[in-house]
Amino acid sequence: NIYQDASTASKEVAEEIAQLIRSRDEANKKTVLGLATGSTPTGVYKELVRMHKEGALSFKNVITFNLDEYFPMEPHSLQSYVRFMNEHLFDHIDIPEDQVHIPDGTLDRDEVAEYCQQYEQKIQEAGGLDIQLLGIGRTGHIGFNEPGSRPNSRTRLITLDRITRKDAASDFFGEEHVPRRAITMGVGTILDADKVILMAWGEGKAPIIKEAVEGSIREQIPATYLQEHQNAQVILDEAAAEKL
Ligand code: GLP
Repeated sequence: NIYQDASTASKEVAEEIAQLIRSRDEANKKTVLGLATGSTPTGVYKELVRMHKEGALSFKNVITFNLDEYFPMEPHSLQSYVRFMNEHLFDHIDIPEDQVHIPDGTLDRDEVAEYCQQYEQKIQEAGGLDIQLLGIGRTGHIGFNEPGSRPNSRTRLITLDRITRKDAASDFFGEEHVPRRAITMGVGTILDADKVILMAWGEGKAPIIKEAVEGSIREQIPATYLQEHQNAQVILDEAAAEKL
């Protein structure tokens, strides 16, 4: 779906999420959302916060799982995804704290593997992801599934691509301060979601969007795996769609 601009597109995505939450509320069911960070989803979060503040949407029955977190990372650090999610969404809505899950960047190395298995298990126990929101990195990563990620990969520790670390350099005041690793949901974890919504805005994303949507399915561009998903939607503004 191509929209004139990111703000119109973000409103549509937020409206779809709100409708899902309301219909599951009516059925006395919880909604399980997979959430993303980065500049791309901020407009969606802004809309969801607005709906909540207007009294039109409650998150009491919503369970969230974030895609990824840098490793190592302290939750209070400027660049942490915990902080990002609190600032953009969780601090402004009525979601119970124990229904929010973000990969833990403070673990010891030897605790990570078991933690990742438990993260997968928690998603299962919640009933699986109803919707997974995604942005896309310049390498074609989804979450932090960098080139080389397998389609059946699960939540794990990953080494970040050089390009990803370069792109994050300004957030960390220099590439040398960007963590070398991250914990990320796997491609398989993402593909298990009932619905996947990949969003991208701006001409900078146009080349990788062309690859993701029209390129052959391959591990060098992990976003191409989404072509095999039964219910994947790509939401773009005109600039991001210009090479399609
Ligand atoms: C990071 C995140 C990704 C995100 C990407 C793009 O690498 N881990 O989930 O999609 O950045 O960021 P932006 O939305 O700011 O372009």
